[in-house]
Amino acid sequence: MSTLPLLLLLLTASGIIADSYFQPNSTGIKLQNGFERVYIQPFGNHGVRVRASLLRDPTGREPSAFLDPPLEGPGGNAGLAHDITLPFQGSASLRNGNIIASVVQGVISFSRVELNGTITLLTAEFTDTKTLPARYYTQDFRSSSFEAAFGFSANPDEMFFGAGQQACCNDHSVNKKGQVVDLINFNSHVTLPVWMSSKGYLHFFNMPSQGRIEFDRLRTRFVTSEATVVDYYITAAQPNDYDVLQQQYTAVTGRQPTPPDFALGYQQSKLRYYNQTQILDLAQRFHDEKVNVSLIVVDFFAWKFQGDWSFNPQFWPDPAFMASEVKRLTGAEMMVSLWPSVEDLSENYLTLQGNGFLATTRDGPGVQDSFDGVYTRLVDSTNPAAREFLWRRLNDSYFSKGIHNFWIDQADGGTLGEPFENNGQTISSIPYARSFAQYFLGTQEATGKMYPWLHQQAIDEGLHNLTETDGASTSCKYLSLTRSTFAGGQRFCSYLWSGDTDSRFDVLLQQITASVSVAASGISSWTLDIGGFAGLDIDSAVGKQLFVRWLAMGVFLPFMRVHGTRTCNLLQTDTQPFANPCPNEPWSYGDENFIIIKKYISLRYQLVPYVRKLFEMLQQSGKTIMRPLYFDFSSDPVIVHATRTNDPVIVHQFMFGPRLLIAPVGVENVTSQEVYLPILPEPYIAEGFKWTHWWSDTDFGTGGKLVNVSAQLDEIPVFYLGKKGDILNGNI
Ligand SMILES: *[C@@H]1O[C@H](CO)[C@@H](O)[C@H](O)[C@H]1NC(C)=O
Ligand SMILES: *[C@@H]1O[C@H](CO)[C@@H](O)[C@H](O)[C@H]1NC(C)=O
Ligand SMILES: *[C@@H]1O[C@H](CO)[C@@H](O)[C@H](O)[C@H]1NC(C)=O
Ligand SMILES: *[C@@H]1O[C@H](CO)[C@@H](O)[C@H](O)[C@H]1NC(C)=O
Ligand SMILES: *[C@@H]1O[C@H](CO)[C@@H](O)[C@H](O)[C@H]1NC(C)=O
Ligand SMILES: *[C@@H]1O[C@H](CO)[C@@H](O)[C@H](O)[C@H]1NC(C)=O
Ligand SMILES: *[C@@H]1O[C@H](CO)[C@@H](O)[C@H](O)[C@H]1NC(C)=O
Ligand SMILES: *[C@@H]1O[C@H](CO)[C@@H](O)[C@H](O)[C@H]1NC(C)=O
Repeated sequence: MSTLPLLLLLLTASGIIADSYFQPNSTGIKLQNGFERVYIQPFGNHGVRVRASLLRDPTGREPSAFLDPPLEGPGGNAGLAHDITLPFQGSASLRNGNIIASVVQGVISFSRVELNGTITLLTAEFTDTKTLPARYYTQDFRSSSFEAAFGFSANPDEMFFGAGQQACCNDHSVNKKGQVVDLINFNSHVTLPVWMSSKGYLHFFNMPSQGRIEFDRLRTRFVTSEATVVDYYITAAQPNDYDVLQQQYTAVTGRQPTPPDFALGYQQSKLRYYNQTQILDLAQRFHDEKVNVSLIVVDFFAWKFQGDWSFNPQFWPDPAFMASEVKRLTGAEMMVSLWPSVEDLSENYLTLQGNGFLATTRDGPGVQDSFDGVYTRLVDSTNPAAREFLWRRLNDSYFSKGIHNFWIDQADGGTLGEPFENNGQTISSIPYARSFAQYFLGTQEATGKMYPWLHQQAIDEGLHNLTETDGASTSCKYLSLTRSTFAGGQRFCSYLWSGDTDSRFDVLLQQITASVSVAASGISSWTLDIGGFAGLDIDSAVGKQLFVRWLAMGVFLPFMRVHGTRTCNLLQTDTQPFANPCPNEPWSYGDENFIIIKKYISLRYQLVPYVRKLFEMLQQSGKTIMRPLYFDFSSDPVIVHATRTNDPVIVHQFMFGPRLLIAPVGVENVTSQEVYLPILPEPYIAEGFKWTHWWSDTDFGTGGKLVNVSAQLDEIPVFYLGKKGDILNGNI
């Protein structure tokens, strides 16, 4: 029996029109070029994977975010398969679906086969007279690893979207052209080596190394500071079909499992509730005020020593009772914070040390950081045995007692989360050495961007192991919240938040560009600190106003989560570390605002069916939830131009799913706001869609204009498409 009918059947099942799909006409090309070898192979639908190494072949055991085989498409489990071997300056090409990878005299290029059969160049290795080679390596011979810089051609007017999350503060950009993006993790900075081009391709470097991306005028260059293999992937689609690019990319790096329903409601957190009584009082108050709450969070330093991964019993005597009371009073789940730092006095220190479960530094077993007056080291979550140990502690201390959700804080890798030479520094007058973290997996330079991802994996696996769902399940019972991640992190039962933001109006707006950019990098499961993390005085009029504006935006995010440290007129009376007397609850911002805040929280619960539907679409095909306007309205020249120039009027608006346009207010004291309504493309018109104002149900037509709408505190500018009832029912 021929295998062809089966293959066609499989392709049809995965949503590809079988007869238009060009099967890969080669298993791979190997380019042998002196010490260098380059493998080019079909991977996923309309995709190509390239691996390049010096002196030795890739082992296949390099840290990787790929699912191999991919969820959809050909080319999985191919190892180093190739049926074409090229010498120096050789030429050959392979085709997979609509993408062609060609090698012409040793230079690689990628093209798209158009529907009419013509071929369009997408990008090629960058060549010019007297320039660095496109594949440029530097070896310092400390080891077999090297530094590399790979250059690709780009057009001056090409736009690039994605590159992860840059959550601070002057970077209000959606189009990254012209930028240099530092690939290094720290608090709020979750840059990812994946971007989409307006020419219709997505480029991903499957490498958790530090380095940078240079989006220059004629050349886009990926620079890695340490690697043993350069590993990248390109996939093609029709220009402006970002959903198809996301579908193909998430098929090779993972799809977001759907979150549990409770997580879609209102999440209450602050820095910090510091004893059990406070949590019980809080739950009682939510109950008495009849305000819905779905998750209540206990922040850091609920432990005695860093690295205990348990409650300090002095302040948290009965976690099981607390969790069940919270549930009884409010129906809410609980979440608890964990840090990766371990201090010598921790009950786990000797065990971790003895088993080699702590990261070291390259010049010896040194500390990585200091915090709150002690030196700390990081648990080495890149070691599977350390992940298992960590999970056992989390289970014993929390999960088995009914606290099922975990907040992975401060685990950005390297140190404790600020740009290296870290934040610690509270041990005065001791010179603080720069940390060269060394993990089980490799060095910080070569593998560090995956450190947070492996924490996510520990908790993901732990939860799956205990709830008897397998790792490939498409839905979650519980979640982790994380401050960092790596490409492919969307496969975990987890959500990212944008880290410690400043409580400022301009930062509120900046969060929009941060979120749509990380979403364009495959991570839609996202949230932020409503109100900003630090700097909000709840007793000031401006602080109250900022909080309500931010909360209004929070209704229209994948997760609605209030968090932050606050200042206020109350005196600090408790001596516990980081105890903060200032409240941060819905009723803490004045009686008038409480009415508005309740209205928004209630609206969020009304929107749960819609949000659930967005997550279902995300799980099925990788369809991005928070969408920059160019995703859906690239046929509108105003949107194209404004996106190219990162015009604030346009990049501070976003689509929340396909039907809601949100224009958050980021200016103090205003009562009206101008909103640009994009020109609706033909298919929308055919559906009878009009831009309709959420609060007044006024029809504003089919777009192409700025409109001036009321923007009172209780009416964030929002427009919807289609019937409101359909949106509220999730019937979209
Ligand atoms: C595969 O298809 C491409 C595009 O049609 C063609 O240029 C190339 O020669 C083919 N390669 C092989 C090995 O048949
Ligand atoms: C084929 O399609 C491409 C992309 O849509 C277009 O640019 C080109 O003009 C078309 N060529 C012909 C000969 O129709
Ligand atoms: C918990 O904190 C509250 C302050 O909000 C304080 O009044 C109370 O004494 C504390 N209880 C314990 C057991 O520390
Ligand atoms: C989950 O179970 C698997 C199989 O027993 C085990 O290898 C893995 O370490 C466990 N993960 C955790 C985090 O405990
Ligand atoms: C989790 O905790 C429960 C209750 O103590 C225990 O029965 C179970 O063995 C633990 N599982 C793991 C993986 O630690
Ligand atoms: C609270 O949530 C429930 C669903 O869990 C919903 O039926 C109810 O309307 C919500 N209450 C308010 C005031 O929004
Ligand atoms: C906003 O209004 C308040 C109260 O009228 C005023 O004190 C404040 O200066 C205004 N802020 C700005 C930026 O105009
Ligand atoms: C929008 O309308 C308000 C109230 O009608 C008005 O005060 C404001 O000046 C208008 N803004 C613009 C930019 O036209």
